[in-house]
Amino acid sequence: MECVIVDGEVLDRTVAKVDIEDRGYQFGDGVYEVIRIYNGKMFTGKEHLNRLVESAEKIRMKLPFSTEELESKMEELISKNELDTGIVYMQFTRGTSPRNHVFPASDVAPTFVAYTRKVARPVESMEKGVRSILDEDIRWLRCDIKSLNLLGNLLSKQKAAEAGCFEAILHRGETVTEGSHSNISIVKDGVIITHQADNFILNGITRQKVLEICSNENIAFEERAFTLDELSSADEVFSSGTTVEVMPIVEVDGKPVGNGEPGPVTRNLQNLFKAEIE
Ligand code: PDD
Repeated sequence: MECVIVDGEVLDRTVAKVDIEDRGYQFGDGVYEVIRIYNGKMFTGKEHLNRLVESAEKIRMKLPFSTEELESKMEELISKNELDTGIVYMQFTRGTSPRNHVFPASDVAPTFVAYTRKVARPVESMEKGVRSILDEDIRWLRCDIKSLNLLGNLLSKQKAAEAGCFEAILHRGETVTEGSHSNISIVKDGVIITHQADNFILNGITRQKVLEICSNENIAFEERAFTLDELSSADEVFSSGTTVEVMPIVEVDGKPVGNGEPGPVTRNLQNLFKAEIE
């Protein structure tokens, strides 16, 4: 039996139900998180749960559970489903009430759903590197919120997939922001450059982990917006995210990055990141 959680209750997935007037379903009115599971344990779980609370606050939603309660519920789910390597997905919506753009009354509780999934580490792609396309970032101006509204991201990712690519690198005019489902960094003359954490990007937990590793290992980095020109003349490009870890990007819009192979700075980060998850 595959277990899921709906509103705090652990259920068999086949009997779990959400109302058709749930605001997540109708408006995308909610927030979510994806947490990596390695060796049956959440990796950077607290950081993800804190971001979930922050995302909820930013959309003026109060979560009915504390981060400690959420953590223990997730642990229960992971152990019930005997998950070793994978992800736990969780989302809160603003609850179920007759469709109305105005928020429901305060007695309407948020809907909480969580499930686990087996997901292998993308070992082969991380070894070889992946291809990408460029796409205009057409999303709203609060990309710092991990909101259920992902249409802009989906349209870009679909375009990438149809071009046989793994990721779409998004840009607002000349400025590179992030990927459709990951953060983007470039390497120039040994320095890692990645967009600063502001309203134009999701401040990835993996991104933060990578920067923490850089600080500890004295690897130079700059948190600032970089341009499409800087991207095309970068020595290395990589994507980072919960499921993709540290992923070398070896091609952008058909043009090779550097010599077209994963570079030494990205390789070093991959090894240092691996040491963190083991
Ligand atoms: N995506 N930017 C965007 C737009 C993302 O969707 C993600 C993650 C990231 C990286 O964040 P983190 O390192 O915290 O996973 C950056 C998740 C995994 C998803 O939607 O599936």
